[in-house]
Amino acid sequence: MDLRLRGKRALVTGSSRGIGRTIALSLAEFKVDVAINFFRNRAAAEEVAREIEARGARALLVKGNVANEEHVGRMFDEIEQAWGGLDMLISNAASGVLKPFDDLTLHHFHWTMDINAFALLPLVQEFLRLSSSAEKIVVAVSSLGAIRAIPNYTAVGASKAALESMVRHLASELAPRGVRVNAVSAGTVDTDALKHFPNRDTLLEESRQRTPAGRLIEPQDVANAVVFLCTEFASMIHGQVLLVDGGYSIRA
Ligand SMILES: NC(=O)c1ccc[n+]([C@@H]2O[C@H](COP(=O)([O-])OP(=O)(O)OC[C@H]3O[C@@H](n4cnc5c(N)ncnc54)[C@H](OP(=O)(O)O)[C@@H]3O)[C@@H](O)[C@H]2O)c1
Repeated sequence: MDLRLRGKRALVTGSSRGIGRTIALSLAEFKVDVAINFFRNRAAAEEVAREIEARGARALLVKGNVANEEHVGRMFDEIEQAWGGLDMLISNAASGVLKPFDDLTLHHFHWTMDINAFALLPLVQEFLRLSSSAEKIVVAVSSLGAIRAIPNYTAVGASKAALESMVRHLASELAPRGVRVNAVSAGTVDTDALKHFPNRDTLLEESRQRTPAGRLIEPQDVANAVVFLCTEFASMIHGQVLLVDGGYSIRA
């Protein structure tokens, strides 16, 4: 299948593991060069780089905390030096504090917001500084917790709601400058992130049972939607949140 993505250059934040890793490898399948951002786990990022190169695309490691403006600036400088430009930004890295309301502090809330929502601002600003592509593509990865209440998910859910709102506002403001901004939101995916959920087993079982499509969402399901939004087939899709949840959210 030719999606006409060959030779494009993408940064995927948080692509050393989980969904970000699968997005990076999926883009590489279509010969997109991928800058792999990670924060702590270099060995995992190096393994992703090897897998990207095995698919015939270029890989670049860019270490940095997306919530730190200086780190973000440095990441984009490194991409500029290596590749001279960038065509796509996939903002996937996320973290956050999972606690019941009574245990949640403002510090937890700020920390979660900084990584999951506010980081989009410097990321997109740096991306626009670097990119001279006719069509500049931004895809943010969100979660169902932005629009539904999930136990222990107050801070992360609120951060994802803010992220989705930013996607709409940036899409509207930046479309005249050739920037297409969208989000992909997913239901429960069994990645390392789930290990931090105090209620992991219940969450997985409930998701399985309530999903009309009959199975959990896999990282590849999310990556497929991201790749679609990166193609010219999505050229008139702006400011949308594409839900990948097997129908979970449409059930009463
Ligand atoms: N898993 C789910 O059920 C689910 C559902 C819906 C949406 N999502 C969304 O999908 C995205 C990926 O989630 P996941 O489950 O794949 O997560 P994950 O397995 O925990 O992986 C997180 C990735 O983000 C990186 N990262 C974490 N904090 C970072 C920071 N401050 N700066 C830069 N990189 C950072 C990690 O790198 P290091 O290891 O190097 O720190 C890792 O590569 C997130 O936006 C998440 O909200 C997940």
